[in-house]
Amino acid sequence: MGLFSSRKRNQKAEKTAPVEAKDSLIEEQEYNIDDVENAPIIEREIVQTPSEQPSQPSEEIPEVTNSESSDNEEELGERTYVAFKDKAPVQHSIGQTRILAIINQKGGVGKSTTAVNLAAALGEKNKEVLLVDLDPQGNATSGYGIDKRELDTCVYNVLLGDTPVEDVILANVAKGVDILPSTINLAGAEVELVNEMARENRLKNSLGSLRGFYDYILIDCPPSLGLLTINALVAADKLIVPIQCEFYALEGVTKLLDSMKRVKTMLNPSLDIYGIVLTMYDSRTNLARQVVDEVRSYFGSATFNTVIPRSVKLSEAPSYGQSIIEYAPDNKGAQCYRDLAQEVIDRE
Ligand SMILES: Nc1ncnc2c1ncn2[C@@H]1O[C@H](COP(=O)(O)OP(=O)(O)OP(=O)(O)O)[C@@H](O)[C@H]1O
Ligand SMILES: [Mg+2]
Repeated sequence: MGLFSSRKRNQKAEKTAPVEAKDSLIEEQEYNIDDVENAPIIEREIVQTPSEQPSQPSEEIPEVTNSESSDNEEELGERTYVAFKDKAPVQHSIGQTRILAIINQKGGVGKSTTAVNLAAALGEKNKEVLLVDLDPQGNATSGYGIDKRELDTCVYNVLLGDTPVEDVILANVAKGVDILPSTINLAGAEVELVNEMARENRLKNSLGSLRGFYDYILIDCPPSLGLLTINALVAADKLIVPIQCEFYALEGVTKLLDSMKRVKTMLNPSLDIYGIVLTMYDSRTNLARQVVDEVRSYFGSATFNTVIPRSVKLSEAPSYGQSIIEYAPDNKGAQCYRDLAQEVIDRE
């Protein structure tokens, strides 16, 4: 009996509400972010056109089928998955594995949306990607249509050291994409790891054995600066920071940069920002345009040129357990995540 035989695809995958992380204590750091944070308050214009009104899910949902079936595949609804050990060798040579943490301790800024869709867009471009869901909410896991309640093991077991990472990975969840899933069990990890040796290095050590198997390992971080996030900062080569084009966009960024600096000094000397990605951009509001300008003037060329628009399709896709590349490949959001993927590839 295979590893995944008991799992059923959850078509309407559960989507837990984003945690509202309110970081009102902005510490003064040597990063000169004061200009941005002391900027005058700007009234937000809320303008909605009919095309962007929340709507009933579109009836034309592309079916996800995997045409190349093999004996090692297990059915999970309409999708098939294989165990990591049964994966067929990839057809291209893997470049240097880059571990990128998608991180911002502010809640609901588009981390999971970016993790799921950037992984899919990189996979579509013939890259081999492992998506690590390091958030107990498990939004990246359910975003790929995986029913978390049916999983026997998850990244929690890997961090606790009781299961090898290769035994937990669900391979080929989409073209070029494998996932190291999360379940609610992960919520206990912060507490359970406190008395463990080398608790900050757990993820780094586990992912280290996977270098050479993937072009990119993307880590979807939780909205906090706790031990899980510290594990991501230690494991990552570089960081991708999504910033929502919204009021208080830069709230807490100073704190994130400070955490990055401390981990860099003590545990991970080459850690740095790979790129800032602006999310949920609404071109009809002055506020969104001003946030883009502020972020670009503060972070300069670290900011990706691609700005992710606010799109109803992007918010609908997870409830069908699909990335935007599968759910609405012609949508602007899909094109923007493709553009972002190209920038990620080009920014070597
Ligand atoms: N570009 C977008 N257009 C429309 N909705 C979006 C977009 N990006 C994200 N959303 C929606 O905003 C909400 C928050 O996004 P997401 O879950 O990706 O944020 P997050 O930073 O991972 O949240 P958390 O901090 O809770 O993990 C979700 O409901 C998601 O569907
Ligand atoms: Mg998330």
